[in-house]
Amino acid sequence: MQLTDLETPALIIDRERMDANIARMHRHVHGLHCSLRPHVKTAKCIEVVRRVLEGEPGGITVSTLKEAEYFFGHGLRDIVYAVGLAPNKIGHVAALIERGAALTVLIDNVSIVAPLAAAARDRPIPVLIELDVDGQRSGVAPDSALLLEVARAVAAAPGLELRGVLTHAGGSYGCRSEAALVEFAELERSGAVRAADRIQAAGIPVPVVSIGSTPSALFSRNLHGVTEVRAGVHVFQDLVIAGIGVCSVDDVALSVLVSVIGHRADRNWIITDGGWMSLSRDLGTASQPLDQAYGLVRSSEGEAPADDLIVKSTNQEHGIIAERHGNTVDLGRYPVGTLLRVLPNHACSTAAQHSQYHVVAGRSPAVQTTWSRFSGW
Ligand SMILES: Cc1ncc(COP(=O)(O)O)c(C=O)c1O
Repeated sequence: MQLTDLETPALIIDRERMDANIARMHRHVHGLHCSLRPHVKTAKCIEVVRRVLEGEPGGITVSTLKEAEYFFGHGLRDIVYAVGLAPNKIGHVAALIERGAALTVLIDNVSIVAPLAAAARDRPIPVLIELDVDGQRSGVAPDSALLLEVARAVAAAPGLELRGVLTHAGGSYGCRSEAALVEFAELERSGAVRAADRIQAAGIPVPVVSIGSTPSALFSRNLHGVTEVRAGVHVFQDLVIAGIGVCSVDDVALSVLVSVIGHRADRNWIITDGGWMSLSRDLGTASQPLDQAYGLVRSSEGEAPADDLIVKSTNQEHGIIAERHGNTVDLGRYPVGTLLRVLPNHACSTAAQHSQYHVVAGRSPAVQTTWSRFSGW
């Protein structure tokens, strides 16, 4: 099958770029004597995750119990569910553990401890304490009294096993320079290690110190005291990650193939069948120095076209492409039926709009294979 055989819009993975992104993270983390527990929420696809797990211990991170179910069904047992646990999911967690999943849950409060412990059956439920090292989201502060309160409550609960601490320095996405990224990575590492040390000093063992986001993982300079790194979007990369200087636009492995369906010569617009339903509404680069609107346009071979084109606006199933600065475009270069690729602002949001990936390699128009993905909870 060729790209021209696909019905558009269609989600495309460039396998060469993806493999290079996976290898880069692997090299970096292993170079710092640590290993990766990849986050599978971006890909939600076993074929992709198998490639990410090559040379790694085999544990994964999930953001939904649906991911946990799917990957457990594909033989991956060691799973960290890295979103704070809602009471209505306790039964589901206990059932997965009963079926053989080594499923670890994340908590940041004492109120969940008793109902969670009560749900434990034959084996204790493994628990990580969520830390907030950058004031961006959920979690307990590494230096807070609450950290020790939660740790003691888990350690004392008969049905639970305290595994350690976990943090995600999402604030790393706000960095604007290499120095800031390096500093943020160290903030994440040192905060997690400090929290683990405090719990250990209280006489409670902390075997796991889990940190990571794609920016902080790739800009960490040492991982002393860390037992695992988590990252997920690095597999595909995207325009947000490129915008903060963590990768280049040429590294982005995910794109949406769209067709030109018409023009508005009076406005200098190219109209496509790639609207927000296929690209997503994510305007993640809007707060960056280079706003890519709904996505950056590439040729069907994945290369920069003659004009600097972005998807300026979208309707549900229409994309409006224009030159970034409003310059005149020779619309004759993009006749009706032309295939273009749109690089996503945020790979997770764009992939979530689709149920399959079509896999190509580099400039070749051949579609090598198709992989399923899923969404939902
Ligand atoms: C808890 C947790 N760990 C790891 C990650 C992976 O980070 P990234 O998407 O930057 O690769 C995320 C992403 O949101 C996360 O929420």
